[in-house]
Amino acid sequence: MYLTDEKVAVLGAAGAIGSNLVQTLLASGTANRIAMYDPFEKGLEGAAEEIYHCAFPKADVTWTAEAGEALTDAAYIITSGGAPRKEGMTREDLTRDNARIARQLGRDIKQHCPKCKFLLVIFNPADITGLIALVHSGLPPGRVSTLAGLDSTRLQSALAQHFNVRQDRVTGCKTYGGHGEQMAVFKSGTQVDGVPLEEILNGRTANSIGMTPDEWTDIQDRVRGGGARIIGLRGRSSFQSPAQQSVFMLRGVLGQPYEWPCGAYVNGEGFNHIMMAMPTTLSSEGVSWSMPGGTPEDLQALRDSYNHLVALRDQIVADGILPPLSRWKESNPNLD
Ligand code: LMR
Repeated sequence: MYLTDEKVAVLGAAGAIGSNLVQTLLASGTANRIAMYDPFEKGLEGAAEEIYHCAFPKADVTWTAEAGEALTDAAYIITSGGAPRKEGMTREDLTRDNARIARQLGRDIKQHCPKCKFLLVIFNPADITGLIALVHSGLPPGRVSTLAGLDSTRLQSALAQHFNVRQDRVTGCKTYGGHGEQMAVFKSGTQVDGVPLEEILNGRTANSIGMTPDEWTDIQDRVRGGGARIIGLRGRSSFQSPAQQSVFMLRGVLGQPYEWPCGAYVNGEGFNHIMMAMPTTLSSEGVSWSMPGGTPEDLQALRDSYNHLVALRDQIVADGILPPLSRWKESNPNLD
């Protein structure tokens, strides 16, 4: 009935993403053995009570304010356990606090579940928190990923709205690089109703509607500002879509197809010691990445995004949260 009965630890489970995640894991038949963790014990108990009141068949859900208890024997970990951003902030404004949380998470994993099969980091800036957790956890790089697909689903939905077509009529949408304002929103590979976006930008139409280069720039900006727009509209950061996409990702690790880019540790092809969204495949082995194809403009945007992440990573090294690159192997022997 469930894709796995191995333990899934959900960290940040008192929050909106975490509690939705637990519910979605159960409602979608993905996992029934779930440990909910959050330091906010009262809210956590409330979230767990609500899950119990849903009465999911075969549900085996526990809750604890002790991170070690939640992590012990966990096969899978999904964490939204960092501070969310508020209106007017960038995701990177969260770095100082959330980087420390990510370092502690990595240390806790090393101590309590060094053999866990998959760690998915959601809290922002996810490329950096995922990287920090990877280095400190000692996990193999393929076992750690970050949620990146929301930028591509936002591209898909923005194009569907522009061309007035059903969302799944827009295919091949991909953003790569960082999950921040510097993300690379690719045009190559995208099709609207079967018409390549590159041809539409050269004068073709889809559903009798065209798109000018300026309109494409607006769409790219809208995707880059997609998370901020939700905060502006709802007065709080997104929670339904990250919870759902995270469950889709876990299902990818459990053998179901997952079509969106994921965060991966990238060290090769001119990119070094970084976590960022790339073309990826999820499987029981975790996440593996490859180089994207794209127009020169797309690929330059990816390089710019990478350079931005390098500056953020180097600041984290300067702050002492990450060791110098040459010493990463001492924290994590799986890293070159
Ligand atoms: C999102 O993209 O919705 C999340 O990263 C949350 C945020 O602060 O934007």
